[in-house]
Amino acid sequence: MNLLSPQNKSLILFFLFAAIAVVAGLILAIIAIAFFPITIVLFIIVKYTPVRHIFTKVYHKIYDYLFYQSEKPRKLLWGFIYDFMCAYFPLNKWRSLNYGYALLNENGRILNNLDEQQEEERFCLQLYHMVATNCLKLKDLQGKRVLEVGSGRGGGLYYIHSSLKPESCVGVDYSQNQVDFCKTTYGINQKLSFQQGDAENLTSLKIQTFDLIINVESSHCYGNFQKFVQEVTELLSTGGLFVITDFRAIQDIKQFEQDLQSTGLKLETKEDITINVLQALKLDEKRKQQWMTRHCGIIFRSFFSKFSGVQSSRIFQELSERKTLYLIYALRKV
Ligand SMILES: C[S@@+](CC[C@H](N)C(=O)[O-])C[C@H]1O[C@@H](n2cnc3c(N)ncnc32)[C@H](O)[C@@H]1O
Repeated sequence: MNLLSPQNKSLILFFLFAAIAVVAGLILAIIAIAFFPITIVLFIIVKYTPVRHIFTKVYHKIYDYLFYQSEKPRKLLWGFIYDFMCAYFPLNKWRSLNYGYALLNENGRILNNLDEQQEEERFCLQLYHMVATNCLKLKDLQGKRVLEVGSGRGGGLYYIHSSLKPESCVGVDYSQNQVDFCKTTYGINQKLSFQQGDAENLTSLKIQTFDLIINVESSHCYGNFQKFVQEVTELLSTGGLFVITDFRAIQDIKQFEQDLQSTGLKLETKEDITINVLQALKLDEKRKQQWMTRHCGIIFRSFFSKFSGVQSSRIFQELSERKTLYLIYALRKV
């Protein structure tokens, strides 16, 4: 048994962080007890007066900086989180990691031919279907070589491979654990393969060029988004398409669009799908809540409710208030 396998490494790292957090918590608790009356007054001020808004604001600023704006910390954090989640939750049934897409009717369906496993993650797969066909006005992907950057646990790319029948599909993800998960879950063959790699350094993988490069809810994790667009442009064949979907705070969208077009890719379509993503989140709420009750202890419940997009989460609120938008862009290399 390899004790230092990528899987074990991320678990060890997590428990190390957790131990440091427990020690820090204990130290704070001792300080709080030592200064008992002051602690109570401070607690009441922070919890029940307008000062709490300042604390929330500062907390959100630090959080946004770390997870969405910084270069190195952001990359490190997301890299660690996905690697750890895969080691801690190796559940074979959990194959997609995006917020999903639904039509604005009662059941939100656009796909009718899903098997039992895929039905579980219907809305996540519908987002892939949108990315790969609808916005390109294509019925299938016959003859196309497809690359997905940030392929996660592979459910989306497997859907594209099995339902839209492209010539080949390659998935690249930063998380070695997720790549191993994909290899075990879907097997490897000439038509579908997965490898570890960094979105900001794709050309070093020495892979072929592609007719379609897709990127689903992954780009917000990258430290240097412009570098990613440069790499994609290198790997696209002439006439090839790059389709990207992700969320961005409204104030970051202008820069995001400038970066997307900074290497000369020609913008073909842009669609705001925020309302469809919200619909998917609403229709998927029950499944996610059940999943969290079944698989997450108290510690992970709060972490997952933050990122899973359930209705109490900040991301759900911000999408509802249109402070954050969820967009799809298709760009062509001319
Ligand atoms: C929200 S998940 C989406 C996964 C998948 N596209 C899906 O929809 O199921 C984001 C993914 O981006 C990957 N990722 C983050 N930073 C990356 C990087 N620098 N290079 C490649 N993949 C990265 C993560 O490991 C994770 O799998």
